[in-house]
Amino acid sequence: MTPIQEEILALKREKEFTILCHNYVDGSVQDIADFVGDSLELSQKAKKCGAKNILFCGVRFMAETAKLLSPDSHVYTAHPGAGCPMADMCQPEALRAWKRDHAEHLIIAYVNTTAETKSIVDICVTSGNAERILKQLDTTQPILFLPDQNLGANLNARLGIKMDLWNGFCSTHHRISVDDIGRAKADHPESSVFVHLECKPEVVALADAALSTAGMLKYVENHDAPSYIVGTEEGMIYRLRKEFPEKTFYGMKPSILCPNMKKVELANVLDCLKGNGHEIELSDEILEQALRPVEKMLALS
Ligand code: 13P
Ligand code: SF4
Repeated sequence: MTPIQEEILALKREKEFTILCHNYVDGSVQDIADFVGDSLELSQKAKKCGAKNILFCGVRFMAETAKLLSPDSHVYTAHPGAGCPMADMCQPEALRAWKRDHAEHLIIAYVNTTAETKSIVDICVTSGNAERILKQLDTTQPILFLPDQNLGANLNARLGIKMDLWNGFCSTHHRISVDDIGRAKADHPESSVFVHLECKPEVVALADAALSTAGMLKYVENHDAPSYIVGTEEGMIYRLRKEFPEKTFYGMKPSILCPNMKKVELANVLDCLKGNGHEIELSDEILEQALRPVEKMLALS
């Protein structure tokens, strides 16, 4: 541990903070967290940790979800400028207008949405539970899936269904191309290849598996391959190398980075613990209405 990490751990104990961290955040921050995981695991943790103070190291929608599930806790986001561009591609006003014209649709939102957007939808999913949840719903009815057109298209293909798709995407995963995966496979023909479900369907079609970040950890745990090509944000490679030091992990290409996840640094964490945090505040109306689709998701997970 470095001196700043030691200081954080001491303050965290003293001020009764629980630190939750997403798999994409820098490894130095992952190392001081109480729990590191994917969106589903982090929301489950937020619901049952019962912490007085939660410091969320990730992007804003994740901290908002933690606040929905732990409304009595003080929930802080480690960096106020760490948003998710994909979440911002579905603006509440545009969704309300769409809903007025398509009253018969069930609206399913990827958890990568703001709390206000969640307050308008019927149920949420994460990349880790989407398939399981869709199998429990009547998918013959008209459905809108938002905001990720790639995750939606991958689910449509996997389940043989035809959800209407919002036209959002994750700029980090959307940039991974068929040429990138082709080149990586040619460079490491012996390796198993997995990508995130936010990648384009034509990229997913060339991978051995398309998964959530927690799914990637389980995949490696359950496979004998000694090496893997990783088609997602490079923070995940830190996590994989830490959990499986005996195995080899190659990035699909250099610098697959989420600039927002990378805004979160140890200095921000320390600052928050010293009393300069950015607390998540949501109106009572949003707290109540946005919790419903998240609770429905957790009940079916
Ligand atoms: P996971 O839920 O798979 O960790 O994904 C979150 C995310 O933002 C991926 O871009
Ligand atoms: Fe949003 Fe993509 Fe970053 Fe995940 S990796 S937080 S979806 S921009």
